Amino acid sequence: MKLIFEKSIPGRGQQIFPACDVPEVLPKVELRKSVAHLPEISENEMGRHYTALAKRAHGVNDGFYPLGSCTMKHNPRINEKMASLPGFTKLHPLQPACSVKGANELITGLEKALCEITGMDGVTFQPAAGAHGEFTGLLFIKSYHESRGDHERNEIIVPDSAHGTNPASATMAGYKTVEIKSNDKGMVDIESLKAHLGPKTAGLMLTNPNTVGLFDENIMEITKLVHEAGGLCYYDGANLNAVMGVVRPADIGFDVIHMNLHKTFSTPHGGGGPGSGPCGYKAFLAPFAPGLVSRDGGEYTRAEKSFGNMTGFYGNFLVMVKAYTYILTLGKEGIPAAAKNAVLNANYMQEKLKDLYPVAYDTTCMHEFVLCLEEIHKNDKVSALDVAKALLDYGIHPPTMYFPLIVHEALMIEPTETETKETLDEAITAFREIYEQIKNAPEAVCACPQTTPVLRLDEVKAAREPVLKYQF
Ligand SMILES: Cc1ncc(COP(=O)(O)O)c(C=O)c1O
Repeated sequence: MKLIFEKSIPGRGQQIFPACDVPEVLPKVELRKSVAHLPEISENEMGRHYTALAKRAHGVNDGFYPLGSCTMKHNPRINEKMASLPGFTKLHPLQPACSVKGANELITGLEKALCEITGMDGVTFQPAAGAHGEFTGLLFIKSYHESRGDHERNEIIVPDSAHGTNPASATMAGYKTVEIKSNDKGMVDIESLKAHLGPKTAGLMLTNPNTVGLFDENIMEITKLVHEAGGLCYYDGANLNAVMGVVRPADIGFDVIHMNLHKTFSTPHGGGGPGSGPCGYKAFLAPFAPGLVSRDGGEYTRAEKSFGNMTGFYGNFLVMVKAYTYILTLGKEGIPAAAKNAVLNANYMQEKLKDLYPVAYDTTCMHEFVLCLEEIHKNDKVSALDVAKALLDYGIHPPTMYFPLIVHEALMIEPTETETKETLDEAITAFREIYEQIKNAPEAVCACPQTTPVLRLDEVKAAREPVLKYQF
């Protein structure tokens, strides 16, 4: 397919603009030296170009998208409708508070709802993504220790099953990451935790359910041990979809948490619009909150020992509108029902696949489960990557591959609650047919996909020699 620049014909598609009648006000020195290379194309051709591109991609609207740890649930259209109301889209963050009472009410309402769901006492909406929320949470922890003159605490404990953003955020916050082992059940190894706790421990970062889809049965002991050592407990809320409305992270000992609105609260991921990773905190951390904090929905002020700004103003406001719409649509009964259905769907798929594909930890899972294809790879020479590629020919987005790192040849599957039983059954059939092929014609599985716009990519070349800009 041609790039839009290759379709460009000089002068085409520009006649819609009248000649500029506004005097030039920029000083000459700030004007660009050459004309910008913009594609010149008719509106009709442009529409076709982007429609063709969209058809080559796979989104939640195209088919099943069981990308583990990402919660690719349906994004209800009502969310978009609310976020496009002119009363929201035409706001300016510098407007006086008295002219934006509705927006203030929405922020306060969402904060209260998230506090109720997590058990926290306050929420800042400044972080623009999950990882940004982690960094914010760690700055809360850091400010807390520093405010007590406790400057020796420079270690953050992270289990070996953690998402890569956890150690990355800890490093960015100036901490040393201390990795602890998981036990043979995929949970935190208590002895390993005890061995690493001490006067240098600033805190522990944990997602629960963890990245192998299991709820840590020792969670109360884990958070108690960290607190006894003088550390704080950080909850990576990426997997909150499994427990929202059922378990409150604050009740199991966590002090600070981020939530991914683009996962749990059905706002779009990535290209679908800016993200939001609000950070919830307990009352004793409130003095350090970043940005402007609301006083009962009225004027916004700075917290007394605020560690600064994570972004401008109040965060990605329209994402908050979508998340609040979702919470109000589901309500008190709908929120836990969604979590329970997410868990049910994952267990249904796990049960229907585990006779062919070994499960990394064969027990009741939460919202996702991890298949281990190590034996299949050894015996049949078909890897987790090959199976993921084969799923593409069934119109299924591959599960998360090779993560968490503690499971070899991992495929992590998260169906979410918004998929029907029929879709789950179709995906189960696809997995089972691929298994048949592994046994009868493994080379055919290794040659998949055969029906996608691009077939197997040279992934090493793509990683080592990426072409990221068009050469004119
Ligand atoms: C367990 C876990 N933690 C943190 C993150 C980071 O979230 P974000 O991608 O919004 O930065 C992810 C993202 O997939 C995740 O799965």
